[in-house]
Amino acid sequence: MVSKPSGRIAIYPGTFDPLTNGHVDIIQRGASLFDRIVVAILVNPEKKPLFSVAERVDITRAVFGGESNVEVDTFDGLLVDYAKQRKAQVIVRGLRAISDFEYEMQMALMNRRLGPKLETVLMMPSESYTYLSSRLVKEVFALGGSVNGLVPNLVEARLAEKSGIVPSLQG
Ligand code: PNS
Repeated sequence: MVSKPSGRIAIYPGTFDPLTNGHVDIIQRGASLFDRIVVAILVNPEKKPLFSVAERVDITRAVFGGESNVEVDTFDGLLVDYAKQRKAQVIVRGLRAISDFEYEMQMALMNRRLGPKLETVLMMPSESYTYLSSRLVKEVFALGGSVNGLVPNLVEARLAEKSGIVPSLQG
């Protein structure tokens, strides 16, 4: 059972397929700013992810196992409804480059319309991760390139395991 949270709660929503070091960087920054950061993995039956929701939860929990104010959860439906249910005041999103800005601004303003009390905080990851995305990680790995240093070691290991069973991941 999850203990009753108190203080300022931030939700960091996303697909995280897979978790990258860019995500890890944002989670760490969020954890230092807020009392609790909830990494909220979207359950989207329309998407065909590489890692199942359960695998993504497992990985993220394992990576942040030692951090008491990082929680990993899943959600479906509207993010604002989930945030309200979790009594969160803030949505955290990472902003890597200006190309992210339009999409993030649209989401932030739509979420503000749907939930005026929720504030979106856009955080910049370390500059070394500004080019990094889950999509590129999967593509590079599938084509036999190294993703070392771009994802947590556990994700690298899980990708390697998958390469044995997912033909499109064989390099
Ligand atoms: O990692 P992603 O794929 O960029 O994350 C997108 C996510 C999960 C944050 C976004 O799709 C989302 O919030 N979906 C939930 C449905 C919703 O609330 N849609 C309206 C948002 S403006």
